[in-house]
Amino acid sequence: MRAADIADDLTDVLVTEEQIHEKLRELAQQVAVDYEGKDLVLVGVLKGAIMVMSDFIRALPILVPLDFMAVSSYGASTKSSGVVQIRKDLDTDIHDKHVLIVEDIIDSGLTLSWLLENFASRGAASVEVLALLRKPEAAKVEIDCRYVGFDIPNDFVVGYGLDYNESYRNLRDVAVLAPHVYS
Ligand code: PRP
Repeated sequence: MRAADIADDLTDVLVTEEQIHEKLRELAQQVAVDYEGKDLVLVGVLKGAIMVMSDFIRALPILVPLDFMAVSSYGASTKSSGVVQIRKDLDTDIHDKHVLIVEDIIDSGLTLSWLLENFASRGAASVEVLALLRKPEAAKVEIDCRYVGFDIPNDFVVGYGLDYNESYRNLRDVAVLAPHVYS
């Protein structure tokens, strides 16, 4: 669905599907150059990253394997501690591999901070991050993100994989959720 289909639930459209696709094509060209001749593996973080992974990997002009990881924080009180639980681990041995983590959004940065450390401890040759969206104002830890799609304000955004109560993931655009939906 497009933002216009559920206009009453949204206040602003921040990034359209067309803008996302154009940006992912640019990033894919860059990644192909940067990783030429290297043993690259893409790792998506479920569930939010499924859309960006799906479009990004198809925009890449090189062959590359992909894997997924599912993580969640232990609970509301520990979200800010950055302690996460692995719900689905990698199928791939990433030792000596160049890992590119593909994320939909960097909010506090805590999830990625934990993942970066975890992947480094498995002996990856390198670990970099591609994030479609980043909220600079929400950062609790700084993440060295090599490929960023769009910096956005610290609003409640949904769409393109991002949810509210598991809904809105199939919205094609990224938009700000209207307060009446969640208050
Ligand atoms: C979201 C998003 C990132 C993380 C970013 O996932 O996909 O993985 O939060 O937040 P942070 O920077 O504050 O750590 P979420 O835990 O909502 O799960 P989901 O992808 O299944 O929706």
